[in-house]
Amino acid sequence: MIHMNQPLSIQPQRLRDSIEELGRIGSYLDDSSGLRGVNRLALTAADGEGRRHVVAKMRALGMSVTIDRIGNVYARRSGRDDSLAPVMMGSHIDSVPTAGKFDGCLGVLGALEIIHTLEDAQRVTRRPLVVAFFTDEEGSRFGTDMLGSAVATGRLPLAEAYAYKDRAGLTVESELRKIGFLGDAEEKLTPPHAYLECHIEQGPVLRSQNLDIGVVTGVQSISWHELSIVGRSAHAGTTPMELRADASVAASRINLRLRDMARSGKYGAQMRATMGAMVPVPGLVNIIPGRMTVTVDLRNPDDNLMRSAEADIIAFYDQVAHEEGVQITWRQTARTDCVQFDPRIMAQIDAAAAHRGLSRMRIVSGAGHDAQEMAHLTRAAMVFVPGEWNGISHNPREFSTPEQCANGVNVLLDVLLAIAEEP
Ligand code: GLV
Ligand code: MN
Ligand code: MN
Repeated sequence: MIHMNQPLSIQPQRLRDSIEELGRIGSYLDDSSGLRGVNRLALTAADGEGRRHVVAKMRALGMSVTIDRIGNVYARRSGRDDSLAPVMMGSHIDSVPTAGKFDGCLGVLGALEIIHTLEDAQRVTRRPLVVAFFTDEEGSRFGTDMLGSAVATGRLPLAEAYAYKDRAGLTVESELRKIGFLGDAEEKLTPPHAYLECHIEQGPVLRSQNLDIGVVTGVQSISWHELSIVGRSAHAGTTPMELRADASVAASRINLRLRDMARSGKYGAQMRATMGAMVPVPGLVNIIPGRMTVTVDLRNPDDNLMRSAEADIIAFYDQVAHEEGVQITWRQTARTDCVQFDPRIMAQIDAAAAHRGLSRMRIVSGAGHDAQEMAHLTRAAMVFVPGEWNGISHNPREFSTPEQCANGVNVLLDVLLAIAEEP
């Protein structure tokens, strides 16, 4: 039976339970906070277990599941007209090693909750629906972010993605095979009719203004570098300061320069810069580090300011190498320009939120998302929900209430129902 005009809402408690359930896979006790966090780093055994759990949920909802050659998973629900391009919803279920339960998972489990709601209501949309989760959105293990969606949308060639290695030298291809998710479906996606993603904001803005919904206008530019700094290891007690080539001093100077650049205002008030990894070799108390591997993460909502920050920090690498007597080589491990989401869907999100009596604002995403890759293939948009504790994320304290989550997913449902009826 089809009830075309009946307003539908998801079940907040069922969504909460399903977030809790997935959050138990890869959970660990976080020493610093005493909280239980989530560690489902991409293509580890825990990620494999999480994937199998979600695939089972997809199948239980009667969806047909396809796994492509980069391990992206797509679950399809038929529409009234299966010859039409589907409307896709999705996100990721891999995590950083110190995660909470919501980053990415809300998008995937929220989309499945929408399917469950449609099943309960025996409501069939005109267009087919697809729920996706993409491989290694986080980039924490293999060093580049949005790996699976970048392959699916053609930004990253499959062979290049397969060859990425983790710190132990294990490749994406071998790890995909090991967890049983090296699928055989074509990795290049046929453009869906539209792509929708619900995600936690991962920042303080919505919560501090007591707003229910973020209508995401786009994603800021991201640039990642990996640097190898080679100096000379030597005795910490006997080597005079002026005879050193200390790779850790060079790294520290670059890190401080990043902070100074961000504080200067020269690259806009919204520039962010982080040295997230600083790995010394040999990394012992009484040896001047002869080698450091470090990473640089730059973000900027303005493409020109991003390019100017990149040029200046790259010039500084040379300056530091010269002044500290070390060699610095670097490579670009991730790079995306600013992405704009579809204005028409943004207006639909705004209207749906208004109709449900939810407060909202337009917001630029500070974090990277699969939706930014999909935006190159089709009309894409995102809905943000607020997070408690200043929206802290990539941290076990990450938390959005069942009501906050349900608001975002209900808005997504409303927009989906409209778009899925389009001819
Ligand atoms: C993904 O979480 C990112 O680094 O923005
Ligand atoms: Mn995410
Ligand atoms: Mn993340």
